[in-house]
Amino acid sequence: MSESSMQLKDWRFSIDGEGIAWAIFDREGESANALGRRPIEELMAIVERVEAEARAKTVRGLVLMSGKEKGFIVGADIREFENFTTEQQVIDTIKPVNTLLDRIEKMPVPVVAAWHGVCVGGGLELILACHYRIATRDDATRIGFPEVKLGIFPGFNGTARSIRQAGPVAAMQNMLTGSMIRASAAKALGYIDQLVASPGELRWAARKAVLQNRKSEPAGLTKSMLTKWPARDFLAKKMKEETAKKARADHYPAPFKLIDLFAKHGGDLNALKVEETKAFAPLMVSDTSRNLRRVFKLTELLKAQAPKGLKWRPQRVHVIGAGTMGADIAGVCVAAGMEVTLQDINAEQLEKGIKAQGKLFSKKFKTKPLRDAAKSRLIADPEGKGIPRADVIIEAIVERLDVKQKLFADLETKIKDGAVLATNTSSLKLEDISAPMKDPGRLIGLHFFSPVPMMPLVEVVRGSKTREDEVKKGATFVTAIDKFPLITKDVPGFLVNKVLTPYMFAAFERLEKGEDKEKIDEAARTFGMPMGPIELADSVGLDVCLHVAKILGSAPTSDTKLDRLVASGRLGKKTGEGFYVWKDGKPVKSGAAFSKADLDKLGRDLVEPMISEAQKSLDEGVVENADLVDAGMIFGTGFAPFRGGPLHYKKSQGGAAASASAQAAAAE
Ligand code: NAI
Repeated sequence: MSESSMQLKDWRFSIDGEGIAWAIFDREGESANALGRRPIEELMAIVERVEAEARAKTVRGLVLMSGKEKGFIVGADIREFENFTTEQQVIDTIKPVNTLLDRIEKMPVPVVAAWHGVCVGGGLELILACHYRIATRDDATRIGFPEVKLGIFPGFNGTARSIRQAGPVAAMQNMLTGSMIRASAAKALGYIDQLVASPGELRWAARKAVLQNRKSEPAGLTKSMLTKWPARDFLAKKMKEETAKKARADHYPAPFKLIDLFAKHGGDLNALKVEETKAFAPLMVSDTSRNLRRVFKLTELLKAQAPKGLKWRPQRVHVIGAGTMGADIAGVCVAAGMEVTLQDINAEQLEKGIKAQGKLFSKKFKTKPLRDAAKSRLIADPEGKGIPRADVIIEAIVERLDVKQKLFADLETKIKDGAVLATNTSSLKLEDISAPMKDPGRLIGLHFFSPVPMMPLVEVVRGSKTREDEVKKGATFVTAIDKFPLITKDVPGFLVNKVLTPYMFAAFERLEKGEDKEKIDEAARTFGMPMGPIELADSVGLDVCLHVAKILGSAPTSDTKLDRLVASGRLGKKTGEGFYVWKDGKPVKSGAAFSKADLDKLGRDLVEPMISEAQKSLDEGVVENADLVDAGMIFGTGFAPFRGGPLHYKKSQGGAAASASAQAAAAE
């Protein structure tokens, strides 16, 4: 095998004795391969070289593979997206990439992609330009188009190539949902041509594919769907209806623009390629995409709350309390591969809590052996026999100080050295819970959000006495169960409930003054909240809301509707009635219509208390910086992600207001 004389940093290139060229993507100094400017330029050089060698008949094929152990390509390098300020810059950057992909597609010798692990976004677009695709059958091998999550859609002609490969219905669905597709499903859809059992077999399979000149067969392409306008139009209409159930076009335009693109140009894949770029460029420089990219970066920031290089790897967890929170916490730990003992004083509750996890395991594990293994990792432990062996002990019992104090004073005598001791309290101070402990420095808070399997954030609470090592281990544990840790100070409500509560209570006050509850909820949704505050209160439970508010000192002073509802046992969704009457898990609404301008204004007014509390929390040092405040509110409450978080929103409004007044001043 001859090593290349080319000066490459992110790829390794060689031509072997059989005339097969191997291009191994291995970005210098990075743990994952993102398609940035330099790797693309280097790939251009490789493609030029292979074209020349192919013409000279010295190369009979090209194979693209990964030099990273864990995956192939994580997509385009979104760090470079920030350089774009104009649509023209976007167009000028994309053009040569699409020319490169066309050249790969037109290569006179076979081009084969072979990989194990993730290949998504721009990476998937690249391999769709290859002639043949081979991947491992492994659960870690996934493809997908996550672009919509960043407020864009595929821009390297992936719209046309995915439709060619998987047919319009599947391809559009894949691009619209942004979901990850397992290897076997991707093969059935036509994105992958061949599966092998292990990464070690990829080279051999790729060699064979080149030698046998294998070509992918476009799958599922129903030509009539593409060329006949009425069918496409019908399909587009259906897609819009489906998409509208999940996202609003005014907040998340990308999927809707993609559907328009398909409806207009889906009949001619060459035209689609050209129009894709035109429709893509404005999305890329939009505020929505910028803010969604910011949200992506915030996830990285949250993950970085767990220190790098900590050797400690939690394997065994003991959860005390198998109620709403404890049972789900146990389930999530098991789903992440850990072994969990679950304890409760109530045998019936324990059994119910364990049984309830079957749903999560079915969702997470696709085969029966994996599901069975998960079930066997979740062990009922009414006597707490797992305590001395556990690496992490999480308490999720009743919210009563005396009961928790007694439990922790007892627990600390039973746990092993180095084990993490955590409470899921939502309102008690760690300092108070740990008061009777011999070593109060051990106790941390691990504050989960309900429903635990859905909510990505866990606050890791540092009490005034908590040792830093314990906080670090807590954050490490949270990342080990695939959640985002946010280290917070031990103040009432920690970060998320502290910031959320004033917003909720300001909404209750409006209600008290006669504002329509449906209007309040619709206004919050118009702003971009996943659910309005009144419906949210009913969902959480009005008793819980009142309790939290009392602790945070924002409970209403006199006899209010909330007080009366709680006193009469109308606690919201769980009792079938609260502010709303609930039917089949949904609030009954009159469906009254309100003016868009009214909703816009009210929506902005509603979030004001949340924004000022966010600023206060930052000033009080509840979390380390403004980005973490925003991250906490986005991942803890679903605060309008396309607005980039409450503090970022405030800043951008300041900017907007400043530029408006500057314009006004200039006009005067
Ligand atoms: P829950 O009432 O649903 O469950 C508590 C469970 O603990 C019950 O099954 C009970 O039998 C058991 N239990 C009580 N004393 C025990 C003891 N000494 N030993 C073993 N088991 C005992 O309560 P939930 O909602 O799960 O809350 C638990 C904790 O999580 C509380 O501290 C709460 O503040 C906190 N939390 C609750 C959230 C929520 O949305 N429900 C959100 C975040 C935190």
